[in-house]
Amino acid sequence: MKKIFFIFLGTLALFGCSNNDDEYVKIPTNINFINPSNFPDIAYDLSKNPLTEEGVALGKELFYEGKLSSSNIVSCGFCHEQKSAFTHHGHTVSHGVNSAVGFRNAQPIQNLAYFTEFTWDGAAIHLDLQPIIPITSDFEMNETIPSVLAKLNADVKYAKLFEEAFGDQEITSERMLKALSQFMVTMISANSNYDKVTRNEENITFTASENAGLKTFENKCASCHSGALFTDKSYRNNGIPYNSKFPEEEGRKRVSGFADDFYKFRVPSLRNIEMSFPYMHDGRFKTLEAVLDFYTDGMTENGGVVDASLRKADGSLGIDLSAEEKTNLIAFLKTLTDNTFLNDKRFAEF
Ligand code: HEC
Ligand code: HEC
Repeated sequence: MKKIFFIFLGTLALFGCSNNDDEYVKIPTNINFINPSNFPDIAYDLSKNPLTEEGVALGKELFYEGKLSSSNIVSCGFCHEQKSAFTHHGHTVSHGVNSAVGFRNAQPIQNLAYFTEFTWDGAAIHLDLQPIIPITSDFEMNETIPSVLAKLNADVKYAKLFEEAFGDQEITSERMLKALSQFMVTMISANSNYDKVTRNEENITFTASENAGLKTFENKCASCHSGALFTDKSYRNNGIPYNSKFPEEEGRKRVSGFADDFYKFRVPSLRNIEMSFPYMHDGRFKTLEAVLDFYTDGMTENGGVVDASLRKADGSLGIDLSAEEKTNLIAFLKTLTDNTFLNDKRFAEF
């Protein structure tokens, strides 16, 4: 009798019947990750966290969930706004619960499936671990993981969403983080005019100015902002002057402890750069014109050892750019704006 009972239970589990009522739990629907043909292979290990429609849907709900913060208001989406390529529009440095301010500019959330290190200094070494930083940081969401889990447990909506994504109603930090990663892994920006030209799509071509800008970019910028992601993922000091307003900022040195890493930052991707102002790790520049003026005339050595490639033959620092080259460079950078991504309903809060 006992044996038959267990076989019966086993069969129920096989068919995915939930244990307390007669409702059938659907098996999550797998999503095939399609890599854009002009992109490198992804770095995120999908075998450990396969993408499913339900997992991504849960991740999106969590991304826009204020309960992840102590104020119950500040969600991930509060600082990562879609129209600004998932950066915090109008804020130089991050601005979290109770208007507490941090010391870094919110980074875009795009193409993170291709990275293995996150944040400006690489403090997070797995996408699944990254959200713990904003959730627990006192100037971001100022919460604790147990308290977040308790709040999610108290909300019936999440019992259903976790069950749909992971097969049962248990809400754990691992599942929460995996769902957030699933959502972020799907946030691929690969449909800018630059991509369309690269892939020969829709008969789109560059204007003369964009083309000239591309040439200048390849000669003077692509050594660091390289490849389809527009970053070689290295940590570099680009001659940015020291900002005494934020004495805690040391760049990569905060992670490595090496003096040489002072004020080195992960080379940022330039995709959607037109929309993700203000610029640099502390959001000090409002416009691309100001960024280019910095590259020609603003570099100093008061923020640590500047990347050797930025030294000219005469020993001075900077990248030579004429006014015309600057205009063309900006025209080219704007071809990296991906309106499909910026308006994609799959990523939108509402
Ligand atoms: C208060 C504003 C704020 C909130 C809320 C916030 N972030 Fe961020 N986010 C930032 C800032 C600032 C950085 C840069 C951090 C650094 O370099 O130390 C960042 C960086 C990141 C990165 C790294 C991107 C990269 O290219 O390496 C990811 C991923 C990320 N945030 C995801 C999230 C998720 C998921 C949540 C919600 C759990 C969240 N953020 C909540 C401000 C915020
Ligand atoms: C030696 C490597 C290097 C070279 C060459 C270089 N950059 Fe950068 N770039 C960086 C680093 C590192 C940062 C981030 C510095 C910081 O935040 O303080 C950056 C930041 C930027 C930003 C701001 C991005 C953001 O999200 O805030 C833009 C725009 C930019 N660079 C454009 C260019 C252009 C255009 C050129 C060529 C004229 C160029 N860069 C050449 C390393 C480089």
